[in-house]
Amino acid sequence: MNKNMNEQHCGHFLLYPMGLRLLYTSTLIVLGVGYLFAMIYIFTSHAGRDGDPALSVDDLIIAYSGSSGGTVLESAINGPMARMLSEEQGEDILSWIHQGADEAGYEKVVAPIFEKRCVSCHGGRNPHIPDLRGYSSVMETVSMDEGMDIFTLIRVSHIHLFGLTFIFFVVSYIFVHAYMRPLWLKRTLIVVPFLSILLDIASWYLTKAYSGFAWMVMFSGLLMGLSFAIQWVVSIYQMWFYKLPDELVENGGKVC
Ligand code: HEC
Repeated sequence: MNKNMNEQHCGHFLLYPMGLRLLYTSTLIVLGVGYLFAMIYIFTSHAGRDGDPALSVDDLIIAYSGSSGGTVLESAINGPMARMLSEEQGEDILSWIHQGADEAGYEKVVAPIFEKRCVSCHGGRNPHIPDLRGYSSVMETVSMDEGMDIFTLIRVSHIHLFGLTFIFFVVSYIFVHAYMRPLWLKRTLIVVPFLSILLDIASWYLTKAYSGFAWMVMFSGLLMGLSFAIQWVVSIYQMWFYKLPDELVENGGKVC
């Protein structure tokens, strides 16, 4: 390899002009804030789906592959709306759903119950809760909860693949100038973020197909966050609070 090229990429941060260190630091700070917002977004859009406010594997299962509890109406009757009707009425409605939710059954069994028990609140006056008058409005709550659809996944995948690769390239490029031993650990830390992007995207599709993979969404997200955090902290620390160790002074500050 060209000797100058090697030296240029191997020097520790502290050998760099102040301007370059300021550029690296400013970039890291803004990307770090960006990462925090990304985590807040993930939390607010996924946490609590399973009824527990913490972010859990179950939330991810519901987000990507849908609720195993079935339809929205079913979850409501088993959950928050259970007190609104007798157990027997609840069972009648559930068996109507399970037998295919046809219109004849609706008129005969379901409509009279809804009329008595539900329409006082679900009569279309409050736009934030489903209107339960009429077969077609009720059917909107009988659709299967299937989680994120495939087109949304594809759209988010390409945004993530391009966007995150760009971000990790910048952060890893800066981190290359840090001093870390053993060398294999440093090299691993440089590669892991990129692997975790691929793992993360793959895990969404796998979770959609088979909900058992939700742990992989969680794991790849943690791996990504952890490698970002380590690279960030080590780089900032070594740029501003570090004294070159003796062995580094002796070899002229080469970190590779
Ligand atoms: C006292 C008023 C009231 C009655 C009676 C009532 N509901 Fe509700 N329902 C609400 C409110 C408020 C919400 C929205 C908040 C929530 O999800 O807890 C809601 C939400 C729902 C939802 C949507 C849940 C979701 O996840 O989006 C369904 C479905 C539902 N109710 C079905 C029923 C059925 C079926 C009955 C009759 C057996 C019924 N409700 C009776 C007030 C009522």
